[in-house]
Amino acid sequence: MSSGRIEVDPREAGAPISRRLFGTFVEHMGRSVYDGIYEPGHPTAGPDGFREDVLELVRELGGTLCRYPGGNFVSGYRWEDGVGPVDERPVRRDPAWHSIETNRVGLHEFADWAERAGLEIVEAVNLGTRGIEEAGDLLEYANHPGGTELSERRRRNGRDEPFGIRVWCLGNEMDGPWQIGHKTAEEYGRLAAETGRLMKLCDPRLELVVAGSSNRAMPTYGEWERTVLRHTAGIADHLSLHLYVEEIDGDATGFLASGIELDAFVDDIGSIVDEVADETGTTPLGLSIDEWNVWYNSRWNAQSDAVAAGEWLHAPRLIEDEYSVTDAIVLGALLVAMVRNADRISMANLAQLVNVIAPIRTEPGGPAWRQTTYFPFQLTSRFARGRVVPPQVTAPSVVTAKYGDVAALDCVASVDDDGAVSVFVVHRGIEEALPVELTVAGDLDVETALVLAAPDGGDRHTTNTVDAQTVEPVELVTARAAEDGSTTVRFSLPAPSWAVLTLRPRS
Ligand code: AHR
Repeated sequence: MSSGRIEVDPREAGAPISRRLFGTFVEHMGRSVYDGIYEPGHPTAGPDGFREDVLELVRELGGTLCRYPGGNFVSGYRWEDGVGPVDERPVRRDPAWHSIETNRVGLHEFADWAERAGLEIVEAVNLGTRGIEEAGDLLEYANHPGGTELSERRRRNGRDEPFGIRVWCLGNEMDGPWQIGHKTAEEYGRLAAETGRLMKLCDPRLELVVAGSSNRAMPTYGEWERTVLRHTAGIADHLSLHLYVEEIDGDATGFLASGIELDAFVDDIGSIVDEVADETGTTPLGLSIDEWNVWYNSRWNAQSDAVAAGEWLHAPRLIEDEYSVTDAIVLGALLVAMVRNADRISMANLAQLVNVIAPIRTEPGGPAWRQTTYFPFQLTSRFARGRVVPPQVTAPSVVTAKYGDVAALDCVASVDDDGAVSVFVVHRGIEEALPVELTVAGDLDVETALVLAAPDGGDRHTTNTVDAQTVEPVELVTARAAEDGSTTVRFSLPAPSWAVLTLRPRS
């Protein structure tokens, strides 16, 4: 393989990068809440039962939003079960995940925790088994200052001030036959519109997210969006997209090129959004990628034997994918694509946060640790600030089964208000390291250069486990030269890898 070139000119900065791109997701599913963020009796648990060690890792991750309480779970959830004295709360079956829900964590407990974690709640309402009235009730309970039945109930339950939740998801994956209360686009579009109308009558400042397609392979893909958008024009503010990717049939390079999938998804749905906005004379909605991640969905049954066997367990181990170096690079690649599409993407939520397809894992009574995927999320949240800068990239090709020949490098850059330029780059090849020459307009110093790759040139399948966490970003060795008002940085990217470089103007 020859070499790659990246040219970045911060004067070409475009769309602002919303901090909302770095949202997360906590669902009442598996060990996300129970035996995840919440484990009374754990040595690090506070009086509220939440683990301080997990909280610390969540803070360090640098997420901004947290979608809650589902996911598929929300489509059978009664929010009232999760408020009031904990010992009086009902224990119920959760049909979505064939689990037992104790309701020991509900809105109050979660909101207190999210506040401490620095996460803004994105609350999902149940449009599966429930509808307009219950969504309106939850809104009143959560956000009305006082003097009404539900707001006074909240105050009696210990929360004087409203929760002030601004962003609300109107249901979850309603196009999916697996969803409790699954609907046609017509049925869902009408219900979302009427629920949204009531919510906006109560508070026009709310931001409402309508459910788009669960994935690009859905038979209703595209038509679903058109129908739902026509019904909810002028009411909804964001349209959700869900994207999960995995390595299939040994197509590692295709998997590493997953950013192409996200670009295509955003292009398809973006043009439908524009089409309906034109037709209805409304403002185009932002895209909310409110579930995205690497997820070995095809291994699902093997990972949840008890549930598949029909047992009803509390906090079973569900989809606790153990992520490899390759998975982490793909997560970084999806973030590259997300930042590139920052003009269209108004929010995004990494699904999920703890234990369930998550960057953070825990053992009951034991440690909490960072999975490999923790790092690209943390570093992108930390460095992708300000505005997007589209780079010029030249690179040799790699062959993929899914997309044919693709460029070995994928890249995006950002520039913040102080002129610091960050460059995020993926090497999608799996065979040879690639020498790269990065040129940035201006006289800048390299402040940070980190690379995530197989430790010591080893195996790209390496994971971080409870016993050994060997995968973490390491320093990327760079050589800098400056000439004629531009800075050149040379480095070599292992195959495969994800890297971030930050350059700051010399003062
Ligand atoms: O994140 C896991 C599940 O994936 C969510 O509950 C659902 O919305 C999606 O199918």
